Amino acid sequence: MISQEMIHEAASAIQERCSIKPSVGLILGSGLGVMADEVEMPVCIPYADIPHFPLSTVEGHAGELVVGTLSGKPVVMMKGRFHLYEGYHPSLIAFPIRVLAALGIHQLFVTNAAGGVNESFSPGDLMLITDHLNVAGTNPLIGKNDDRLGPRFPDMSNAYDLDLREIAKESAKKQDLLLREGVYAWMTGPNYETPAEIRMLRKLGADAVGMSTVPEVLVAVHSGLKVLGISCITNMAAGILDQPLNHHEVMETAQQVEKAFKQLIRDILQTL
Ligand code: 6GU
Repeated sequence: MISQEMIHEAASAIQERCSIKPSVGLILGSGLGVMADEVEMPVCIPYADIPHFPLSTVEGHAGELVVGTLSGKPVVMMKGRFHLYEGYHPSLIAFPIRVLAALGIHQLFVTNAAGGVNESFSPGDLMLITDHLNVAGTNPLIGKNDDRLGPRFPDMSNAYDLDLREIAKESAKKQDLLLREGVYAWMTGPNYETPAEIRMLRKLGADAVGMSTVPEVLVAVHSGLKVLGISCITNMAAGILDQPLNHHEVMETAQQVEKAFKQLIRDILQTL
């Protein structure tokens, strides 16, 4: 169980190392960690130095917080995140979000590498998340509710904040960037889905599929944070193209969209 004490111990350890009070938190998905290199006057804090933080075990997920400014806004970035398939309890996956909320952020930008389920998408597309499907069969909010952290029954009608989505769309338009929109489905992994599972997800209304983001968003909404979600469609999901899926391709495509992604995030932050 995550306790308020654990959250405050972690937040205090971070505050002791930096003078900036971040207002925006960003979680950088697979291959998108380079965004942290853009931070000005960065203070890097390895997860290992933060009490109760889990340690990231996946290639392409470094495992440190980067605090500083970007586009003039005080930010805290999570370079590396935690996934269900690594074996963590769902509430531990989302523990860092509780800590970021305790640091005083108001907005959380979540990014990820995802497989395209919508057949009109292409690898390299960026997708604004409009909503999600929790098909992983678990939830970080299961368990006794601490009313000081948030309500027992959080409303998910506007989980992906409409105002932030409008800002993101404006920023994309300014840059002549095609920004797709759609529903993200959370699967546990670690395997990529079967073609039958992808057909199922498409019938359920999914446009993209991945192994992250949803637990973090559930806790962010519970904590009263405004959320912006962006998926990088790194590959088409199983059964769409006649080719096997692999993590190498995921990382490679994410790298290719790096520039557009960085520019989009910068512009959104500037507009806030
Ligand atoms: Cl096809 N599935 C899942 N679950 N995660 C992914 C993916 C697919 N492509 C990138 N990440």
